[in-house]
Amino acid sequence: MNIFVLEDEAAIGRAVGDLFCRFVQKKPAAVLGLATGASPVPAYRRMAERCRNGEVSFRRVRTFNLDEYCDLPEDHKNSYHTFMRQELFSWVDLPPENTGFLNGNAEDEFAESERYRLAIEKAGGIDIQLLGIGRNGHIGFNEPAENFTAESYKTALTGSTIAANSIYFDDIPMPRYAMTMGVGAILRARQIVLIATGGAKADAVKIMLEGEMSPRCPATALRQHPDVQVYLDPQAAALLRK
Ligand code: F6R
Repeated sequence: MNIFVLEDEAAIGRAVGDLFCRFVQKKPAAVLGLATGASPVPAYRRMAERCRNGEVSFRRVRTFNLDEYCDLPEDHKNSYHTFMRQELFSWVDLPPENTGFLNGNAEDEFAESERYRLAIEKAGGIDIQLLGIGRNGHIGFNEPAENFTAESYKTALTGSTIAANSIYFDDIPMPRYAMTMGVGAILRARQIVLIATGGAKADAVKIMLEGEMSPRCPATALRQHPDVQVYLDPQAAALLRK
């Protein structure tokens, strides 16, 4: 793993945004794995800015998002479909039909998981996956568990995740379930970039990098992957030994 501690989230946004833009410049039909939440927003802004300046085009890119809430309409203001439209897709020249999501309202979660696996496989697999990390060490919505998960599945969100994300839900209660790519599916990405900022992530970051590898902290699985870059601010890196 390559670990970079940069001065703040703006610097991380520039570095990661530029990394994704360079990737797409080299491989215009790249397959990107994308995340929602606060962590990737500055990187998405950077990608949008560079696209607007004509430095990079996402016209041939394909994207697959990590997760989506269950029991929430796709066009609800808090859905991850809406988040991606607001934070990235509306600002770049990516055709809407090139964007892939799990359907949190699918009747058959197993069929939906298989559909997503095949869609990613047919696109050639994810070239580069962007991740955040939950305060409890989750990646995607893979919450602490007894076993590492493989393919996409429907998961019950934990109290820690509900506490962290319910601030965004002001009209209805936050959904209690989500569909998420499994840890195994995430690890199939050829390259992984994880962003963590703020002191609330310091414990999770320490366990991810220095703790016991265990599904109790799903992010520890990333240590098995040969090409992971971790971008931290000083607060998120505060508990690391070195
Ligand atoms: C979102 C996702 C989650 C977030 C994590 C951190 O698609 O998969 O794992 O990355 O909850 O969220 P933020 O960035 O809001 O702290």
